Amino acid sequence: MMDYQPILNQIVEDVQAIADRGKVADYIPQLASIDSNKFGVSLLDNNAKQFSAGDAEEAFSIQSVSKVLLLSMAFSIVGDDLWQRVDVEPSGDPFNHLSLLEMENGIPRNPLINAGAIVICDVLLSHLKDPKSEFLEYVQGIADDSSIAYDNAVAISEKKTGFRNYAAAYLIKSFGNLENEVEDVLDFYFYSCSISMSCEQLVKLFYIFVNRGKCLKNKSYLSLSQVKRINAIMLTCGFYDEAGEFAFEVGLPGKSGVGGGIVALLPNQFCVATWSPGLNEKGNSKLGMLALEKLTTKTGQSIF
Ligand code: DON
Repeated sequence: MMDYQPILNQIVEDVQAIADRGKVADYIPQLASIDSNKFGVSLLDNNAKQFSAGDAEEAFSIQSVSKVLLLSMAFSIVGDDLWQRVDVEPSGDPFNHLSLLEMENGIPRNPLINAGAIVICDVLLSHLKDPKSEFLEYVQGIADDSSIAYDNAVAISEKKTGFRNYAAAYLIKSFGNLENEVEDVLDFYFYSCSISMSCEQLVKLFYIFVNRGKCLKNKSYLSLSQVKRINAIMLTCGFYDEAGEFAFEVGLPGKSGVGGGIVALLPNQFCVATWSPGLNEKGNSKLGMLALEKLTTKTGQSIF
């Protein structure tokens, strides 16, 4: 059994000494005032032992990280029919770009870019009575934590400035790949992005992707084959046009969000989450990526 604690302590010390911490996302006004000095990390191993350092208990806006949970909920409801609505190829494009969407007839490249998650939200809207509360209950259930919540101020703030997401949704709708009204789909999408939680909560949530679809309480949410597919999508598409760089530097499937969170995992071994609000030019947490590179290098543990 590996003792990750000294490794995490050293990582926090190392990254806290770095002066250039990237730039906090400000296109969602509510996120612009987050303190860029924050840094947290938490790791949950396959014996359910948790190790944390820095600001690991502080909640932040998980943003695009929630796209993996939207995907897993939709996949478990509709199965492989899902792939008629969204593809599984890396986009090589920034997370909010529209050009491929037009060229590829409204079928988003993958479920982890904004356009893909918008289609997934539409699928959920068609299958659930009350998508917002059912999705939150799904997330709370997996993490076994009813304190996880939407951040209304963040959702409302993004709704006012989410012009590119409106453009994407209308483009998808024009190709016939949205069944519901754009306003309803985007309302659900913005709320799903606004969920806030800490690194310590995030690793419990993503434990299902480490543990063959089962949460810490051993309840099953996904089949082994579905976990394999979602982990593959995280590896190839979880970091937008930096997915190759993340695989190269870190070597784990994972997902980032513009709130500065990253979650990554080694199947059957561990799940790790970092939070540092400053982003690099590709929209991924600058220090989070560095920290995870240090983790897989120091431990020698990665999928490669
Ligand atoms: O739709 C958006 O732009 C945000 N709610 C989520 C973007 C995001 O986190 C992608 N991140 N790197």
